[in-house]
Amino acid sequence: MGLAPLWRLRDRPALPAAAPAEAEPVPAPPVDTPTGNERTRRIAAMGWDELRAAVAECRDCRLCERRKQAVLGVGDVEADWLFVGEGPGVEEDEKGEPFVGQAGKLLDAMLAAIDLRRGRKVYIDNAVKCRPPNNRAPEPDETAACFPYLQRQIGLIRPKLIVALGRPAAETLLNCEIKVGASRGRLHDYRGIPLIVTYHPAYLLRNLADKAKAWEDLCFARRTLKELNDVGG
Ligand code: URA
Ligand code: SF4
Repeated sequence: MGLAPLWRLRDRPALPAAAPAEAEPVPAPPVDTPTGNERTRRIAAMGWDELRAAVAECRDCRLCERRKQAVLGVGDVEADWLFVGEGPGVEEDEKGEPFVGQAGKLLDAMLAAIDLRRGRKVYIDNAVKCRPPNNRAPEPDETAACFPYLQRQIGLIRPKLIVALGRPAAETLLNCEIKVGASRGRLHDYRGIPLIVTYHPAYLLRNLADKAKAWEDLCFARRTLKELNDVGG
């Protein structure tokens, strides 16, 4: 790398040895009731226009109550890279686009550091489409309720690689409890798609020392995708 990315700290701590994550099941998506099943099947058959309309009107979890608008996701619908965050914040709720606030600026800088740009081979999404009040993390029942939308988006985009930004995104996609520190640095799998876990940009804004680790994770992700491209074309 000739150019040091702007967001990178000069001082890079050594990587901790990756301890295996204790995988504890979290509640499964609500597919075990006839209604849940029916809803999941309906969403699984949607195209982009239907998905956009369904999310805009969705009232299937309590997060609908205080949102201004649902935020579907943004980017290249044939993206190689899918980044999944937690959920919209105040600014995203206002503008209807994910990652447009402070954390979004950092995410854009992180993308630029590996020669990526929002919208070009990149899709940016969230585990929940409606803003959790007071910036709290989404609850497991909320991510579970919203998961069929994310699942459908992944089915339509068919990304080559998924980057889970922070714990709620990783837990939603991997369907088990994780710790970012223990789960980063190795390849996971979401239905055959390689998945990498890293820190959420909002966390990095508060924990500057971990930016170096996120940089390692992005390099790992870039390497992984390159290897996939070299093998599969
Ligand atoms: N944080 C997220 O997880 N997603 C956004 O869209 C914005 C901030
Ligand atoms: Fe529906 Fe998801 Fe919004 Fe909940 S967060 S109301 S499931 S779109």
